[in-house]
Amino acid sequence: MRTLAVVNLKGGVGKTVSAANIAHILAVYHHKKVLLVDGDKQGSASRYFGVYGEQDGTAALLLDDTLDAEGVERVIYRTGCKGLDIITSNMELYAADRALFDRDDMDTARVLFGALDLVRNDYDFCIIDNGPAADTVTLNVLTAADDVLIPIRPDEFSFSGLLDLVEQVDAVRESVNPGLTLRGAFFTHWQNREPFKQARQSLEDSGICPVFQTAISYNPKVPESTLEEMPLCAFAPRSWAAIQYKKLTAEYLALTDLSKGKEG
Ligand SMILES: Nc1ncnc2c1ncn2[C@@H]1O[C@H](COP(=O)(O)OP(=O)(O)OP(=O)(O)O)[C@@H](O)[C@H]1O
Ligand SMILES: [Mg+2]
Repeated sequence: MRTLAVVNLKGGVGKTVSAANIAHILAVYHHKKVLLVDGDKQGSASRYFGVYGEQDGTAALLLDDTLDAEGVERVIYRTGCKGLDIITSNMELYAADRALFDRDDMDTARVLFGALDLVRNDYDFCIIDNGPAADTVTLNVLTAADDVLIPIRPDEFSFSGLLDLVEQVDAVRESVNPGLTLRGAFFTHWQNREPFKQARQSLEDSGICPVFQTAISYNPKVPESTLEEMPLCAFAPRSWAAIQYKKLTAEYLALTDLSKGKEG
């Protein structure tokens, strides 16, 4: 199982839409077994697949570091999309974050990794949607991940916020997760206009992190798809955003060299 975290400390940049659609495309178009983990107390990824509720989810994994494989499987739900399962979140994740932060009797960064490791053989990919925060949950998400993708909105573009995030990824790599790879940033809400092109150019020139070739256009089908609780490739398969998310997923797969189905 390869674990991809979709992260940005900023809110509203497209983390959830990206994590959910990449997960859906890996399952449906690349025939991978995919586990989507909702790592945000807002529960948006869970809502996208119509499975937001009172059930135990990511918080339960973080609150109990003695769970066995059966305990983890108990919080995994089917999404209705073939090959795509989900661990949901709700406001319990806020309590879990606080409880974890207060504990000093265990390695609090590695709890999510430990839980997901128990179902490693059941999935090809685990995609984690993260909240807009730098909390203990985010630390756990980065510790559990192999790869990081950073969605960026060009109109809210900020080198300083991005630098903080890249530094956080570096710190996690150095302290707890040497295998963590920052695969790069990609633009969402993209429009082919001069100021945006300049923003992209300056990000590329800065060398802060790699930038994906594929950008996701600003497209009203995206918010509509969240209202309909349907991934883009199901709701509007011919929309630019659906096509671009397929391209972005292929670009990511090529980087990980898993497009050939190498890893079990
Ligand atoms: N390419 C796009 N075109 C138009 N709207 C988009 C696009 N991508 C995302 N959106 C919309 O932008 C808003 C933010 O997207 P999303 O919820 O994925 O961001 P987020 O980073 O997960 O936010 P949060 O930090 O609150 O979790 C949503 O209303 C979503 O529908
Ligand atoms: Mg979100």
